[in-house]
Amino acid sequence: MNMEAGGKKLAMGGDELLEAQSHIWNHIFNFINSMSLKCAIELGIPDAIHSHGPNPMPLSLLVSSLQLHPNKTQFIYRLMRLLTHSGFFVLQEEGYLLTNSSRLLLKDNPCAVSSFLLSMLQPALTDPFQFLSIWFQTDDQTPFETAHGMPFWEYMGNKAKDGEVFNEGMASDARLVISVLLGKYKSVFEGVESLVDVGGGTGTMAKAISQAFPQMECTVFDLPQVVAHLKEDQPNFKYVEGDMFKLIPPADTILLKWILHDWSDEECVKILKNCKEAITSNGKKGKVMVIDLVLFNTKNDQDSIESQLFFDMLMMVEVGGKEREEKEWAKLVKEAGFSAYKIFPILGLRSLIEIYP
Ligand SMILES: C[S@@+](CC[C@H](N)C(=O)[O-])C[C@H]1O[C@@H](n2cnc3c(N)ncnc32)[C@H](O)[C@@H]1O
Repeated sequence: MNMEAGGKKLAMGGDELLEAQSHIWNHIFNFINSMSLKCAIELGIPDAIHSHGPNPMPLSLLVSSLQLHPNKTQFIYRLMRLLTHSGFFVLQEEGYLLTNSSRLLLKDNPCAVSSFLLSMLQPALTDPFQFLSIWFQTDDQTPFETAHGMPFWEYMGNKAKDGEVFNEGMASDARLVISVLLGKYKSVFEGVESLVDVGGGTGTMAKAISQAFPQMECTVFDLPQVVAHLKEDQPNFKYVEGDMFKLIPPADTILLKWILHDWSDEECVKILKNCKEAITSNGKKGKVMVIDLVLFNTKNDQDSIESQLFFDMLMMVEVGGKEREEKEWAKLVKEAGFSAYKIFPILGLRSLIEIYP
């Protein structure tokens, strides 16, 4: 078929034309994957199949175990058909089994990713994507601000329910990351006497570290809206409220997990300079431990690259941050006045980056 468009000839054979259409359709409806998975979590489908035991769970039993309106039971198999196709369930002998991915969504899995999923797919975070092109054409700081009229952290402070869902999502990711670190790489904390988890949220990570190392003084430093109401229940663990752009409490190690990707280069340099002040103020030379993506440095298969690029867009849309390649990390480290860094690609798509004064 030959078509004239803007004065140029657009020649596409039948197969090419239909392939292009199919590629576009796949992109148009990608969000249905996310929303269907969210629905399955909200209905408790993975947990229902898990409770059924090791044998495949027939559809009729699955349907009767869920809280559904009687008129809607007939639709469950269509949701299951999509999620089976995308690898979350296996259909065997007319019944459903879990896969590794859906096992990671079970409520009683200590590393469960379901709260993270719910926090990322809450409307407060998905709505801003409707404003992306408007943001490109206006002076707004982020699409999040275009959508909600205020920056991300202010919104999360004002809207208690959304803030709670977000913090719980972060806590669930912290549980997964710390289980890997304490399970396989405990030595990264050897010799540390005091640690401040800057932007440490509700304290999941620092609490686990303080339990694993009772001699270590652990502090969670975060905004008042996040930590003011939280209770301290261990002698070597405390919450401190404050602003990392002003002052970071002194310690020999500063942890920055999923912090720097939230901010612009200039803001990261400010945060890192405050970290340097904190780890050198008592005359010692500590270290900063950053947990973040280093773009394209670990897995380079199609899915992994896409996930990394999704995160980069997410940071741009929600908070005005970005994911960085190694050379961009090196530049930040240098500009903040540090002398060296080392990247440990030990956390799947993310890495541990140690930065030394
Ligand atoms: C993406 S979350 C990461 C939470 C936690 N580190 C984790 O990975 O589970 C970023 C955290 O930075 C905190 N934060 C934002 N601005 C801050 C500031 N100016 N000073 C201290 N903490 C801040 C937020 O409240 C939030 O808990």
